[in-house]
Amino acid sequence: MKEIEEILYSEEVVMQKCRELGERITADYEGELLVVGILKGAVPFMAELIKRIDLPIIIDFMDVSSYEGTTTSGEVRILKDLEFRVEGRDVLIVEDIIDTGLTLSYLTEVLKKRGAKSIEICSLLTKPKRRKVFVDTKYVGFEVDDKFVVGYGMDYNEKYRNLPFVGILSEEVYK
Ligand code: XMP
Ligand code: MG
Repeated sequence: MKEIEEILYSEEVVMQKCRELGERITADYEGELLVVGILKGAVPFMAELIKRIDLPIIIDFMDVSSYEGTTTSGEVRILKDLEFRVEGRDVLIVEDIIDTGLTLSYLTEVLKKRGAKSIEICSLLTKPKRRKVFVDTKYVGFEVDDKFVVGYGMDYNEKYRNLPFVGILSEEVYK
């Protein structure tokens, strides 16, 4: 595909990472876990990850992003809230990529205030160099440089989410 400059993580590599993360998560918890996917980017990763978690889990979704184009505005809104109450629950937030950290620092605060027993984050990717606020990321798949990546749930203007790999988007596409 000419819009993809480079494939960073193939489907096999992502799936192997999901197995590793799933095993760690399984070992770290006892009992029920509420797995919260952040729409829409987390969906393909979460679908793979939850199959590797050997615990009684409940899944739910939130849409909180205000991400448009290739820059993060820093404004966070809840577009779709959870179906379940988080009070007293162990919560695992699943995200596609952490960039400035604004989305997840906001979200963890919200869920803390609602009385979650514990909150951890599992993100397929992280861009540590772009961080504006600290977020405690216990489970991370891969660290990437400051390039715009798409695939495996990640998009550019809603496209490329269905690619079965993580790749770098060619600059020509958004220049
Ligand atoms: P913050 O800055 O709040 O943003 O950590 C997290 C959200 O930004 C989106 N994001 C990307 N999406 N390719 C994408 O498709 C990228 O390289 C990228 N970097 C950040 C992502 O939606 C995430 O939820
Ligand atoms: Mg997202």
